[in-house]
Amino acid sequence: MRWGRSERWRASEAKSQGVALALMPKEPEPKTETKIYEEVVASKPTLIDEKVKLHGQLIEEFNLALIERVSPEDLARQVKQFVTEYVQRERVPLNQKELEAFSDEVLDEMIGLGPIEPLLKDPTVSDILINGHMSVFVERFGQLEPTATRFKDEAHLLRIVNKMVATIGRRVDEASPMVDARLADGSRVNVAVRPVAVDGPLVSIRKFSKRPFSLDRLVEIGALKPAIAEVLTAAVSGRMSIIVSGGTGSGKTTMLNALSSYISPKERLITIEDAAELQLQQPHVARMETRPPNIEGKGEIRQRELVKNALRMRPDRIIMGECRGEEAFDMLQAMNTGHEGSMTTIHANNPRDAIKRLEQMVGMASMPMSMGAIRGQIASAIQIVVQLQRLSDGKRRLMSVSEITGMEGEVIQMQEIFKYVREGMDDQNNVIGSFRATGVRPKFAQELKSHGVDLPGHLFDPTVVL
Ligand SMILES: Nc1ncnc2c1ncn2[C@@H]1O[C@H](COP(=O)(O)OP(=O)(O)O)[C@@H](O)[C@H]1O
Ligand SMILES: [Mg+2]
Repeated sequence: MRWGRSERWRASEAKSQGVALALMPKEPEPKTETKIYEEVVASKPTLIDEKVKLHGQLIEEFNLALIERVSPEDLARQVKQFVTEYVQRERVPLNQKELEAFSDEVLDEMIGLGPIEPLLKDPTVSDILINGHMSVFVERFGQLEPTATRFKDEAHLLRIVNKMVATIGRRVDEASPMVDARLADGSRVNVAVRPVAVDGPLVSIRKFSKRPFSLDRLVEIGALKPAIAEVLTAAVSGRMSIIVSGGTGSGKTTMLNALSSYISPKERLITIEDAAELQLQQPHVARMETRPPNIEGKGEIRQRELVKNALRMRPDRIIMGECRGEEAFDMLQAMNTGHEGSMTTIHANNPRDAIKRLEQMVGMASMPMSMGAIRGQIASAIQIVVQLQRLSDGKRRLMSVSEITGMEGEVIQMQEIFKYVREGMDDQNNVIGSFRATGVRPKFAQELKSHGVDLPGHLFDPTVVL
């Protein structure tokens, strides 16, 4: 469809009614974000002028109020058609490839997130980090690198930032300078602006990876070894309760997602997250997400309430994206009351710390429980702790698989089954090391046997390098 003349708004009219004009940069914004575009601009210096003219006409021609309601495909088609006609009419010297880049540019400025749009589309980019309008870094293959991307000025960046948080009905300003949001494609965003951000808006985008890593893929890229994967998949299908532990960005969510694919498709799963990231493949998944408080600080729905509610929804297992606080109590209860095989992740640097964090988090629920009782709960609820780490070479690896075997007095007993041993660095600063079994045959192997899963002894042989 093409908007008819009767529906057309004059730009001034739209402006006076305050309609979505923020979508439409009023001045040309010289952009440097795509290589193609840079080349085009370099070879055709008049293109920026053309863009100014074109923008003027677009504002005249398109019904701005409708832009948000048209499907992205339709809008893209219409903009492309418009740009093509314009380029022909004005005899702008562009070849087909340049025309397409130009048309994408114009479209990005109308609906997208401006200069960072190409980075969002680039599948090799996993994180985008904006430190004020002059500095944009990306992470590719585990390494941070600077980009040539720039915003015109701070106001431009701020406009884009507010577009990001508008998706969850928020604004960022001095009164509430920090906001978490999620982009339309599922990417997670954290925004901080002045006064807490000293040099202008700070934006951290963790991109939603469209194809999550499978466990096989993680084995392929060396994050763990086949023997370890075999033991973990048996543990998941045999309903062991597992905690994935690691620092920020160590690959916890990725691992949780990969492990979850070994849950039987017959089971009903409920996922609980602060921002829905998990992509479970099972047919029977009910997804729940917390709600942050609104600007007046009201209406918050926390993970704890979601766990309580989930227990009334007849789950076989609960998969919680990340356990950060009081909800630990309810999660342990769930694991101890017939929802074995539930899983979550915890922010901790080693398996012992993960347990300590859990103890603290259960404490946050303010239940009248002694430390002994809390530890008892933990020991009976959780069987396995999988520790991950992002090492100095940027690679994410499984560092340890540990088993919780019970209590001795007041102390939780843990034994390591597999570990990664660092052995040095090569001349490209890559970490060298190997995965090994410790020689301990896990207790849960016995339990798995009663489920009909037999783990061959050689998997736990400490003399072989896995
Ligand atoms: N083993 C791995 N190798 C390479 N990249 C990984 C690996 N595991 C995760 N990633 C990527 O690292 C980023 C952070 O992973 P994520 O699972 O979200 O970490 P966390 O949940 O610990 O913060 C994601 O972009 C993810 O795709
Ligand atoms: Mg995570």
